[in-house]
Amino acid sequence: RTYSVGYFVGSLSSTSINRQLSKALIRLAPEGLEFTELPIGNLPLYSPDFDSDYPPEARALKDAIAASDAVLFVSPEYNRSIPGALKNAIDWASRPWGQNSFHHVPAAVIGASPGQIGTAVGQQSLRAVLSFCNARQMTAPEAYIMFRPGLVTEDGEVTDETTAEFLTAFMGEFRDHVERVLTVLPRS
Ligand code: FNR
Repeated sequence: RTYSVGYFVGSLSSTSINRQLSKALIRLAPEGLEFTELPIGNLPLYSPDFDSDYPPEARALKDAIAASDAVLFVSPEYNRSIPGALKNAIDWASRPWGQNSFHHVPAAVIGASPGQIGTAVGQQSLRAVLSFCNARQMTAPEAYIMFRPGLVTEDGEVTDETTAEFLTAFMGEFRDHVERVLTVLPRS
């Protein structure tokens, strides 16, 4: 069957390498996965004051996650942690209390950085947050992508064969993970 994947790009940069990575991942994904971006750039800053009346952007985010079989996070590391815009989106989706959108949702995390550690520390922060939100994360394989200029073309083609194979395998494992989680925890 086909699974719908909502994906977060954790960067608001117009030249984001993580957005390029997301394009590559969509191209390399196996049959049976469909992708919809979950936009984060138009969300106001979360406050509990909104809990009784979410603004349309935040309502749309929660609805889009509810309509997804799984979520994928493609994010940079900011100051060894989660970019604020992404954390804000997660906070919105996790609330109001008792209506956490990530509960039991299959999830995976990946990220790219020009630096050697390829978002490894930021991903640990993100994983801790997603654990608390009770998402069903793929724990392996992990993917820390060191991004050199030209690694991915404008339209998402990966120019390095080893990286393309690695990302293909990652997405294959993600599909298997989604299937396994949904077998036990079907989404209505
Ligand atoms: C960074 N960058 C960065 N890189 C890294 O490997 N570890 C880090 O902790 C940080 N911290 C950080 C903080 C802030 C505020 C910025 C703007 C940048 C560099 C970062 O990896 C680089 O800018 C990437 O290009 C960001 O990904 P996008 O936005 O291109 O997808």
